[in-house]
Amino acid sequence: MCKVVLSYSGGLDTTVCIPLLKERYGFDEVITVTVDIGQPEEEIRKAEERGRKYADKHYTVDAKKEYVNALFQLIKANGEYEGYVLGTALARPIIAEKVVEIAKKENADAIAHGCTGKGNDQLRFENVFYQHGFRVIAPMRELNLTREWEIEYAKKHGIEVPVTKEKPYSIDENLWSRSVEGGNLEDPTFIPQEEIWEWTTDPAKAPDEPEIVKIEFERGVPVALNDERMDGFELIRTLNEIGGRHGIGRTDMIEDRVLGLKSRECYEHPAATILITAHRDLEKLVLSRRELKFKRFVEEEWAELVYYGLTNDPLFDALNAFIDKTQERVTGWVKVKLFKGSVTPVARYSEFSLYKPELTSFDTTAIDQKYAEGFSRFHGLQGRIYGEVMSKFRSEKQQ
Ligand code: ARG
Repeated sequence: MCKVVLSYSGGLDTTVCIPLLKERYGFDEVITVTVDIGQPEEEIRKAEERGRKYADKHYTVDAKKEYVNALFQLIKANGEYEGYVLGTALARPIIAEKVVEIAKKENADAIAHGCTGKGNDQLRFENVFYQHGFRVIAPMRELNLTREWEIEYAKKHGIEVPVTKEKPYSIDENLWSRSVEGGNLEDPTFIPQEEIWEWTTDPAKAPDEPEIVKIEFERGVPVALNDERMDGFELIRTLNEIGGRHGIGRTDMIEDRVLGLKSRECYEHPAATILITAHRDLEKLVLSRRELKFKRFVEEEWAELVYYGLTNDPLFDALNAFIDKTQERVTGWVKVKLFKGSVTPVARYSEFSLYKPELTSFDTTAIDQKYAEGFSRFHGLQGRIYGEVMSKFRSEKQQ
């Protein structure tokens, strides 16, 4: 009895994998696993229904808690790669770990997934599968199938082909972001039609009244919205709704995949944009100039490890230790103004604020300004010396 566990979304590709794993790879039993990381409930329900129908056994596993915890760390790290908020990238290892749990429980001989050989997801999944010593099967990558072939094959095996009206896009959606790629978007000169966007209103059609939202953070993590305490999942979902109404968090960009291929990507992520804007603003109030400067490098490395699916690298732990240390003081609140696609911090407070109005204000004498004179005499000294040296050099050369 040869068993395989398949990471399953319910779409055409992964569903076609079920009979393929039997016919082409000789497995006797295919077990599908769908992991809930906050994708639309309808999508999970459909996957469950199709898994039950076409595979020998199906599991739906809830990983919302794990994903929200990972997102909290991402917020602390202001995580973004080339302007992409990393929703898919951060979710993949979590999904993979859940699939591994089932594969172990079921004593499976292999794990299969539906990723192609061109993207990043194969790397993110397989790093985890190999870590646990599993044989990996990637039919999409190995068999080079066309869509027409898949549809034909599905029909032959009594698999219902989802007849969503000619949707040529590859869409990946979870609590943090929605990504749309493929189809006519592959032409970078093409301006996407409005219909590709589902989470966000066209900023031009967003409300004419701005809205102010108050976000409270504790140790870098958002804990309350407009003075109402909420768990992370609820808070992010609510901010996606509010921000989406105001047309916040649309990105249309060219991205460098790990393999080096460039791709055109369209993303929606209202909550991500709002939370990271607010979090950065609070950090500016409480972290020192040098912490802020150094943290930017840490953030860039952190995001790249997430994007590359290398969160098992020891560097990732080390970066997180630094990030967590800085976040001990990132407690307080920020008010942001949402208006026609933009998020602007307009007020902030923290008990750990390094901003001292009694020192900075135009209206106090707490600092004796004369002390600055000596500082100012040395400030820029080398530049002034350089200026003198060069003008002397030029005038000597002219003679
Ligand atoms: N480009 C993004 C990433 O690499 C999103 C990928 C979305 N995946 C998908 N199968 N549509 O994380």
